[in-house]
This record gives sequence, C-alpha cells and structure tokens, in this order.
Amino acid sequence: MIDPSEYRRVMGHFATGVAVVTSCRDDGSPAGLTVSAVSALSLQPTLMMVALDRKSQTHAWIEQCGYFAVNVMEDGRGETLARRFAAGGQEEKFRGVAWHSQTTGAPVLDDALAWLDCRVQAALPGGDHTIFVGEVVAADTREGTPLVYYRGGFGRFVP
Ligand SMILES: Cc1cc2nc3c(=O)[nH]c(=O)nc-3n(C[C@H](O)[C@H](O)[C@H](O)COP(=O)(O)O)c2cc1C
Repeated sequence: MIDPSEYRRVMGHFATGVAVVTSCRDDGSPAGLTVSAVSALSLQPTLMMVALDRKSQTHAWIEQCGYFAVNVMEDGRGETLARRFAAGGQEEKFRGVAWHSQTTGAPVLDDALAWLDCRVQAALPGGDHTIFVGEVVAADTREGTPLVYYRGGFGRFVP
C-alpha cells in the first residue's frame, strides 16, 4: 500500500471532467454532490458507474430511491455549482438552481452541459466508497465548454 495522500497526489495528475450526481430524498426534495469518479461502463446494455464515499449524504439517498442523474458541469457557472455541491447542506446546494425530472425522477440540472438519467443496477463495495452501476435510461447534451479538474484545481478545456 502507498500512503493515501501520495495516492491522491498522483491521481491528481489524471485530468477529469466534473459532474454533479443527483438523487431524491424521501420527502421528494433533491440531493446531490460533486464527483469526478464517473465513467462509462458498457454500451450493451448502456451502463455507467459512479464511485461515492459511503459517508456522503447523497450515497444514502441513492441507495434508498434506486436512481441517480449524472450532470456534467460546464466551465464558468459549472465551477460555482461544483464548489457548492462539494460542501454545505442539501437545501443550500439547490438554492436558485433550476432542475427538472426526466425519466427516473432524479434531478436534471438545467445548466448541465450533458446529463444521464440512471436506474441503479448494482451497488458494489469499493473500500470506503460504493460503486453505483446505473442503467442509462435517458441522456442529452447541449453546446458548451466542459469544466476540468486537475491537480486539485478547476480549469478549462482548451482544444
Ligand atoms: C472536484 C471534486 C470531485 C469530487 N469527487 C468525488 C467523488 O468522485 N466521489 C465522492 O464521493 N466525493 C467526491 N467529492 C467530494 C464530495 O463532493 C463532497 O464530499 C460532498 O460534500 C458530499 O456531499 P453530501 O455528503 O451532501 O452527499 C469531490 C469533490 C470535488 C470538489
């Protein structure tokens, strides 16, 4: 085993996009958090995976309601959302944030560059995280520039 902080430092060199994964609380109100551990998994069937800390509040809500949406963040406003969804209580996270339900009921953020609506197909143990495998039942995109995360900071994709 290597030191966890060294592992974090090294993996920080793997540039990723940034997404807000959303779900619903038992009273129907929205929940969500910022994630970088997102990946496409399978084409047939269409599956994707997100890795969530078992201590995160959103983890519990996804387990309970069985669905989630992956909202890909855009440069600019997306950075503000990413910072907000990485901290604070769930009510504050969604204050002034426009969202709607698509197929599953998971909140799709109006400002997302791309979104994928997923039904949980499996929840696999992964150390202090859980890998949620979701079947993608609806998805769409719009034009824009993606937000990037690299070595602990947000940046912009320059082609
Ligand atoms: C850029 C970035 C990427 C993150 N990626 C993940 C991730 O992949 N999985 C995770 O569980 N937390 C990740 N986090 C941390 C969560 O967003 C943070 O712990 C959040 O406060 C959890 O919210 P919740 O407890 O309300 O669900 C990330 C944070 C940032 C800023």
